[in-house]
Amino acid sequence: MNDMTLTERALEATEIKFAARDVQVYYGTSHAIKDVNIDILDKTVTAFIGPSGCGKSTFLRCLNRMNDTIDICRVEGDILLDGEDIYDKKVDPVQLRAKVGMVFQKPNPFPKSIYDNVAYGPKIHGLTRNKAELDEVVESSLRKAALWNEVKDRLDSPGTGLSGGQQQRLCIARAVATSPEVLLMDEPCSALDPIATAQVEELIDELRENFSVVIVTHSMQQAARVSQRTAFFHLGNLVEFGDTTQIFTNPKDPRTESYITGRIG
Ligand SMILES: Nc1ncnc2c1ncn2[C@@H]1O[C@H](COP(=O)(O)OP(=O)(O)OP(=O)(O)O)[C@@H](O)[C@H]1O
Ligand SMILES: [Mg+2]
Repeated sequence: MNDMTLTERALEATEIKFAARDVQVYYGTSHAIKDVNIDILDKTVTAFIGPSGCGKSTFLRCLNRMNDTIDICRVEGDILLDGEDIYDKKVDPVQLRAKVGMVFQKPNPFPKSIYDNVAYGPKIHGLTRNKAELDEVVESSLRKAALWNEVKDRLDSPGTGLSGGQQQRLCIARAVATSPEVLLMDEPCSALDPIATAQVEELIDELRENFSVVIVTHSMQQAARVSQRTAFFHLGNLVEFGDTTQIFTNPKDPRTESYITGRIG
């Protein structure tokens, strides 16, 4: 107990949100994720890092069953959210995705107005009682995504008419509008300028007070800035998982060290 660091003590007190056990993912016969075991904690930002093609997005998509939408994709093993198997037949993937929201690398706004993009989730899940409440959720979600000031006078314009970085922030607003318990973000800042990136990182830090966030990033600096836990993937394996500081200052596996020092990837 006494030789535990503060972070270790905090982590021990934090609940496990997702527990993945012996997860395998196949695309046809190609084995993309191999034997992954990981605990993703509540009220924590977890970063997934690793070279291109190592399976970060594939594994992230397992966590809200987005892989269900890919015909040739097969997921094996157990993924528990708050102790419940998310692949159980009685789980409705649409409900699951309201709880476990996702932001993709490429912004994908609906062909609807800015307002309706954000209002969509709360509407279909019946989260608000009237127009005033819905307006409030739309505004607070757009504020959280650092977009409100730029769009407040044109909420009826199409979301697809925004710039790439604005579209990405719109998608973040759409994802937070349902108050998800977990937010999955796949390289959410790759289309953003440094100012918007800093705003999104600030949002991630705020979300951590109440939620669990998993972020895939190619930026080591970003992983170090926003996350408390880091998972390093390589060729479909989860090579190393631990405290972000430990992973970046004292990696245990030579493959992690090569990656963070820029020798692979
Ligand atoms: N829809 C798909 N169909 C077939 N194979 C796929 C599909 N999506 C990914 N793969 C394969 O699975 C492996 C892991 O891909 P994935 O997209 O998860 O990697 P990644 O770590 O997210 O890479 P990047 O950093 O480039 O985004 C790769 O070999 C990829 O070609
Ligand atoms: Mg990816």
